[in-house]
Order: sequence, then structure tokens, then C-alpha cells
Amino acid sequence: MIYQVYVRSFLDSTGDGIGDLAGVRAGLPYLKKLGVDGIWLSPFYPSPQHDHGYDVADYCDVDPLFGDLDEFDLLVGAARRLGIKVLLDIVPNHCSSEHPWFREALAAPPGSPARARFHFADGRGPDDAEPPNNWHSMFGGPAWSRVTEPDGRPGQWYLHMFAPEQPDWNWRNPEIAAEFERILRFWLGRGIDGFRIDVAAGLFKHPELPDSDDPEADARTRDSVNPLAWNQPEVHDVWRRWRSICEEYTERDGCERLLVGEVSVPTAREHAQYVRPDELHQAFFFDLLSAPWDPDAFQKVISEAMQDIAGTGSTVTWVLNNHDQVRTVTRYGEPATEGSGLGAARARAAALLMLALPGAAYIYQGEELGLPEVVDLPDDVLTDPIFRRTGSRARIRDGCRVPLPWSGQASPFGFTSGEESAKPWLPQPEYFAEYATDRALADTRSFWHLYRDGLQLRAALPQLGEGTLRWLDSPPGVLAFERGDDLVCAVNFGTAPTPAPVSGTPLLASGPCPPGVLSGSTAAWWIRS
Ligand code: GLC
Repeated sequence: MIYQVYVRSFLDSTGDGIGDLAGVRAGLPYLKKLGVDGIWLSPFYPSPQHDHGYDVADYCDVDPLFGDLDEFDLLVGAARRLGIKVLLDIVPNHCSSEHPWFREALAAPPGSPARARFHFADGRGPDDAEPPNNWHSMFGGPAWSRVTEPDGRPGQWYLHMFAPEQPDWNWRNPEIAAEFERILRFWLGRGIDGFRIDVAAGLFKHPELPDSDDPEADARTRDSVNPLAWNQPEVHDVWRRWRSICEEYTERDGCERLLVGEVSVPTAREHAQYVRPDELHQAFFFDLLSAPWDPDAFQKVISEAMQDIAGTGSTVTWVLNNHDQVRTVTRYGEPATEGSGLGAARARAAALLMLALPGAAYIYQGEELGLPEVVDLPDDVLTDPIFRRTGSRARIRDGCRVPLPWSGQASPFGFTSGEESAKPWLPQPEYFAEYATDRALADTRSFWHLYRDGLQLRAALPQLGEGTLRWLDSPPGVLAFERGDDLVCAVNFGTAPTPAPVSGTPLLASGPCPPGVLSGSTAAWWIRS
């Protein structure tokens, strides 16, 4: 179980209102107590922060906002002493427009080797005023921006599948592969345990960059679905090479390294290709995260994953929350029942379901506190480039990135150790007081205790280790499955109680369950006697 640390919102040690690496180090004992196996750190590299660090200007350093390399080494050392693995977030699809190679490309003429590291192309139509093709960016608007040539004239266009400040690398140029090998070795040599790979189905584009039949698909779905821009066969060679580099380090020091990819592809079968034995160890299977609160939808996603991914000998990697998605508590709540706690009850049940599935599980900071999405942030504090690029229509990713509450009754809730006046970079609502970690730890009915207990059992019970699952017959609205010979997990998606599939007291339940009963919006685990 890996815990995603969104560094700028975890814990601020300097009082500037932005979380940092020293804050992460200070929070490690908290994570140890929760029972995590490892952490994935969101990007902390030097960056102008147009997409909170997913626009990397220097892949081998730390942005002064977050600390420096010495602080990074201290963090890795402290994590190692606690037995917590450290994964970095590597961003190979694109860099920042302030990366020295992109600046060099802007200063160089069309056709130069400096431009060949990116996708520069002439425009179409009179005066080349139209982009080279009709692709849309994931963040809205065209995927191309036009540059001014060094002589001051309007010039070529460059491709950016995300924001204009994130030019895509041209992976058909061998120099890029070589540069990323250097970057991998830089961090592996500093003792890290692996990488979460951003946009791992990206990297290669169709060599001719032709028009797409459905140009707005990417912007509409925010999934990489344009078959000309994503999921090209050549990308698998990169993952094979990266895997062999990891293995080289493992042979050297005996420590396993892990590659986990952010893979959004249309089907579980295509997904399985990314986790073949010589490619990535893990890839997030986002279908569970996108499934509505509905037993048939959940069952379909889990069955497909078990058949098409686990069935080919790889592991499924489950995730319900991350820094790009509306938090489960809010996602599963229905507007009509707001305030009833239904979203929270369902999010707790979903957590027990996920922790009972075969495979790896990732949780996103604040998920263990049951934090809801902050839905009423004022427009002027929103920083997600999607908001800007969609003409202020899509308020998507700021509400799950609000800094964590640690203690106390008022913002900054212990998030920042600075002056009382230091403001967290996104405002925390007053109700965050209820979710602060000190309260959560003190209340055995909290989300935190459910996650902690679930993780302890998951680590201790062999039934919850490797292996598969077997669906059990269950009443309508209930999903039940068995792990090993005798561990049963059941989830009641409805709101009315149903008979429990196993008599006796559950090992763990996401809400109160009298013996023999599975309450509404509740999941439980039992050992069958
Ligand atoms: C991934 C990240 C997201 C980022 C995008 C571009 O989807 O999770 O936060 O904006 O890549 O790097």
C-alpha cells in the first residue's frame, strides 16, 4: 500500500504556506503509524509551477520552494530507517517551457537539432496561421502554440498535449531516451525505490501527426483517448528499457525497485500490455475510480481487471483517489442527501472493498481522514490550469488539493509551522477542524482507524495477499467475494440493511453491523468458520 504525498499540501516546515520535503520528513512517523509500505512524492523539481511541478525545468534538483538535495537525502534516509519506500514522480512526456532545452529550441532555427527534441512543425493555411493538426490539449484548447522566431516573425508551432507551458518531448529522437536514462540513474543512485511515471501511455505520437477524427475527445473525457496521440506501440520499448535499468540496480544492491505507470488506455486488455513481465511492475487501473456507486459497475470493473490484467500474470493496481479527481466522500454523495453522511459511509465501504482486492492499493493524502472535496473555493484562488484553459468552466482539481489539517480549531490547522498569519496556499474551510489528524487518531470510529485497521489486517492475513477472488452469490445490491479459503468481503451498495453473508461478528466493518446484518452503505470482512 503506497500513500501519495502531494508535497505542497502535506506539511509546511518553513511557514510560507506551501508544504515541503522537510514537512514530509516530519510527517513520516504519522505515516508509519498508519501502516503504509511506501510513499509517492508528487514532483518537487525546479519548476515555474504552471501545473504544480508537472512542468519540470530541471529533472535533477529540488525547487527551493520544497527544499534542496540535502533535505531530499535526509528524507530518504529517514524513510529508510522507518522501513518506508520512496517513489518519485517522473514526468517524461513533457517538460517546462523554461527547461534549458526548450529555451535553446526557441532560440534555434526551424529544422535545427535543438528543435528536433520537441515537436515543432509549420502551421497550415495562409501565413501558416492554423495549427499543424486539429488535436486538442487535455486541459482544453488546441494542443499547439505558435512561437515567435528569433528574428521577430511569427513562426513554427510546437505540440503540448497539456498546457502551453508543458511542451511535449519528441521521443523519436534518441537523445531524449538517453537523457531520461541519465535522470533515472541520478535518482536511483541517490537511493530511491522507484518511480511513478506520469502519462505513461504518452511519449510517442503517430509519426505523421495526422488530423484526428474526434479532435475534442481528449479535452472532453480528460482521458488519453486520441489514438494518434497516445498508446503508440513504441512506448513499450521504453518501459522495457527502464525495467532493465531498475533490475541492474537491484542486482547491484539487492533492493527491489518499482515502476508504477499512470496508464489511461481504453481497455483492460491494452492496460495489461503495460504490466507485462518485462515492462512496468504496476499501472494504475483507473476504472474503479471512475465507476459510479453501483454494484454492477463495480463488479464489471473488478471482473475485467481480474480476467484481463491479473489473468495474464500481472498485478492490478487499485486507486480510488488522487490529486486529479474529486474525493470519494463527495463523489459518492448525492446532492439530495448532502449532510446525511452517505458519501462518507460509501467512501468507507469502498476503502474496505479496495483493501480486500488482490493487487496493490494506493491512497491519496487526506483519504485516510475522510476529507471531502472543497467545493466552494473562490475563483481567484484556483490554480489548476484546466480552470484557466476552459474559460473558467471546469473547476476540477483544486478542491482535492487543499492543505491537510493536522490539529487545532482554525486554519492553518497545524499545516504550516509559520506565524499565525501564514496562509496555506489554498484556503482551508472551517469544517476541516473535524478532520484534523489529532482528532482522527483520538477517535476509534474515524476513517483513520478504519484505514489503519484495514492495513494491519491486510499485512497480517495471508488471504489478503497474492491470489485471486471468487464471487459469492449475494442479494441484489450487494457484492460479496471470497479471498483464500475463508475470508469474505461484502459490500451493501443499497441504503437498507440486508442479511450478512456470514454469521458472527465481522473482523472489520466500515460502519456499525449488528451480528448477522450487513447495514446499508457498509462493507465488512469476516473469516468464515
Ligand atoms: C498527470 C498528472 C496531472 C498532470 C498531468 C500533466 O495526469 O497526474 O496532475 O497535470 O499529468 O503532467
